[in-house]
Amino acid sequence: MKVLVVGGGGREHAICWKLAQSPKVTELYCAPGNGGIAQVAQCVPIKATDVEAMVAWAKEHAMDFVMVAPDDPLALGMVDALEAAGIPAFGPRANAAVIEASKAFSKELMKKYHIPTAKYETFTDMDGALAYVRAQGAPIVVKADGLALGKGVVVAATVEEAEEAVRSMMQDHKFGASGSTVVIEECMVGPEVTVLAFCDGEHLVPMLSSQDHKRAYDGNQGPNTGGMGAFCPSPKYTPEIAERCMKEIFLPTVAAMKAEGRPFKGVIYFGLMLTQDGPKVVEYNARFGDPETQPLMSMLDTDLMDIFQACVDGTLDQMDIRWKPGASCCIVLASGGYPVKYQSGYPISGLEAAGKLATVFHAGTKLGEDGTVLTAGGRVLGVTAVGGDLEEAIKKAYAACKPISFQDMHFRTDIGKV
Ligand code: AMP
Ligand code: GLY
Repeated sequence: MKVLVVGGGGREHAICWKLAQSPKVTELYCAPGNGGIAQVAQCVPIKATDVEAMVAWAKEHAMDFVMVAPDDPLALGMVDALEAAGIPAFGPRANAAVIEASKAFSKELMKKYHIPTAKYETFTDMDGALAYVRAQGAPIVVKADGLALGKGVVVAATVEEAEEAVRSMMQDHKFGASGSTVVIEECMVGPEVTVLAFCDGEHLVPMLSSQDHKRAYDGNQGPNTGGMGAFCPSPKYTPEIAERCMKEIFLPTVAAMKAEGRPFKGVIYFGLMLTQDGPKVVEYNARFGDPETQPLMSMLDTDLMDIFQACVDGTLDQMDIRWKPGASCCIVLASGGYPVKYQSGYPISGLEAAGKLATVFHAGTKLGEDGTVLTAGGRVLGVTAVGGDLEEAIKKAYAACKPISFQDMHFRTDIGKV
């Protein structure tokens, strides 16, 4: 099969790495890809959000299957456009991707179908939002409605902080159009766990539980990032909690989307908080998480292409999806200054030595003219190791980071430990 993966980060490298192991996949392409993906797939220089060019390329080159990984092209309807062109595509259609693209939609869905989540109100007028914040008091959570790269969420400790967040979103348009609607939520307390699940519109198979680390610095300090590391499975996700999540959250969500005429095919990402009142949804994403995918793909024992096809064909209930025993951990090596301001274009050394100790997924890299690997983004690499248990996985991942260096390299030293 000729398969195209859309995207170009660490997540897409992990997906391509796993797909390249499938005997079914004879030709693998990735658009736009990156310096590391180029080792397992042919990179195609088309922007992930360019729906028209992507579909035209897939048609012209007779792709048998396309996997759309990032949120933006999903929200823009890339899967719809591929299907219309007769190309089987993995990922939700735009009308289902809205579960991530609009927090107002997802909160409404959870309310309607009694799926546990934080209490909330949605506002399109700033004065109403400010009055609500004052009436509720702090702590309180303010969220921009649309896609804001995971940065449109403020967990405010004081009323003043919450008011400032509302103003920056609704008056100063800090997140552009994303902030013209805000969702204001009750602040939940408890450990966070992520569960990604494969869906075929009707059936759902959860992957191993995982956890990422969103803050830039050790001890969960500093600004929110796309994720500075992740591991799986999470020791906090006990079989009892898993059973409750399946019954109270996962199955009701898939059934709700189907009942709304928006059947969800692809990967649904459940961001969960384990509160004293039970597990509750913090957020849904309509895609694989980054960096959660890097450890998850390292633990997956089943052919990923078979799973993708079952999701598209609606036969996921017939699949036996297996995972390796033990645990996996991914450490993100980032450019100093990320997520605020950073420089790119620095040569990276030590990749070969690191590659002997763990799997080094590339996130923001590109190949220089002489073939050297250069930094090309905020998150640069995701060094991922598998171990007999979480402790061993963490140790192996950090050991494999040691040989790697580039100017201003920054990483957290407590991934998996907090
Ligand atoms: P989100 O983009 O919705 O996942 O939010 C980013 C982060 O903000 C989450 O991972 C949580 O740590 C935190 N958060 C979001 N909503 C809430 C809430 N209602 N209560 C407490 N923390 C929250
Ligand atoms: N790691 C968080 C996300 O992919 O949204």
